[in-house]
Amino acid sequence: MLGTAGAAGAAGLVAGGAAGSGIAVAAQDRPAPLTGIGTGHIPFEGAHQAGIVEPTQARGHLVAFDLAAGADRAAAAALLRRWSDAVRAMTAAGHPSTPAGYDDQVAGDAGPSSLTVTFGFGRGFFTRTGLTAQLPAALAPLPDFPSDALDPRRSDGDLWVQIGADDALVAFHALRVIQKAARDAAGVRWQMNGFNRTPGATPAPMTGRNLMGQIDGTNNPRPSQPDFARKVFVPASGAPSSGSPAWMAGGSYAVVRRIRMLLDSWDHLSVTAQERVIGRRKSDGAPLSGGTETTAVDLDAFVHGSLAIAGDAHIRVAAPASNSGATMLRRAFSYHDGIGEDGAPDAGLLFVAWQADPMRGFVPVQRKLDGGDGLSRFLRHEASGLFAVPGGAGPGEYVGQRLLE
Ligand code: HEM
Repeated sequence: MLGTAGAAGAAGLVAGGAAGSGIAVAAQDRPAPLTGIGTGHIPFEGAHQAGIVEPTQARGHLVAFDLAAGADRAAAAALLRRWSDAVRAMTAAGHPSTPAGYDDQVAGDAGPSSLTVTFGFGRGFFTRTGLTAQLPAALAPLPDFPSDALDPRRSDGDLWVQIGADDALVAFHALRVIQKAARDAAGVRWQMNGFNRTPGATPAPMTGRNLMGQIDGTNNPRPSQPDFARKVFVPASGAPSSGSPAWMAGGSYAVVRRIRMLLDSWDHLSVTAQERVIGRRKSDGAPLSGGTETTAVDLDAFVHGSLAIAGDAHIRVAAPASNSGATMLRRAFSYHDGIGEDGAPDAGLLFVAWQADPMRGFVPVQRKLDGGDGLSRFLRHEASGLFAVPGGAGPGEYVGQRLLE
């Protein structure tokens, strides 16, 4: 692969020199076109914000801001207008542009690369802007889970921004534009950087793997399922039962958890023991009750007189069937920030769970996992946030306009 890229680069130099000297370049000397990753385009406008149902991108940044002292509702509205206009420009199909005044040229040569930028509001936003009457009941603080080891400096925040792109420079550029466009209205509270497999790295599209090596995301709800929208999005009209005000129509709630994987302990387990902890085969993600990755899990199946999926297996404890139907859409990025002070990899999952109501999604499932999931022994939840993510912007609108206008 390196050889191929090097050859293309060298051919590019030859072509450039030849063009300058007026010498025709033979077809075989022209650089081979690379992939179409840069052309990937996800529209900014729509009923829902982008960055929720689309496949995870190769690169991600999660960043939370706190409003500056004295920044009121008008300042917040102007900020969301600046941010939305900037993202509209950077995600334009074909020739994305950089908003005036922010041109660092970092993404200069690239297409939109499936860039998405998603905005959410934390509880603090509503008190700071005097909008407490609009605070969704669904944004009640998450309960304390007994095994949590949360760092408050890397948790919560008045505003949350999720950036994803299939190119690391495009993602970084978007992050810088968002930070600069905050001007003096808001300052960064925390930032986390993540990644996923690069599209095209596998010969055929397949479910990604996390840093424990497991195929992760198999039993996520799918947009093609009839009840998908009900589980993930606040209804577009009517009186939602989920404790959401009208301005949240078409929105969703994002639970963000920085979950460190205790990889050195995990690596001591045999593959068979690792598979028992999850309830699926490591090689291909098939449930231990049989079949292939996509075969429905049979929680009642027995093999040689024992439950095929162990009583404390992650997929049993987390399953909707074990949690009165509680469901969420998991859309995570892996992270790796070098070696921690304890000498072990500071690596894991930037876990983002999307649901119409956290009390019917993340909260009951995490309560159950915290109390008796075999995987929890190898994890540490180190940071947490809950954000109300409004519906998407219409033509010319900014995200959150229905709350702030
Ligand atoms: C399923 C890994 C944290 C909820 C799975 C699967 C894996 C996995 C490998 C099986 C494949 C799949 O269906 O996606 C992990 C890892 C975690 C983690 C490595 C932390 C680093 C969580 C958390 C929650 C959660 C915090 C929710 C509170 C679920 C659910 C399923 C699942 C709902 C699907 C269960 C079913 O089959 O119905 N997870 N998980 N996971 N996980 Fe996790």
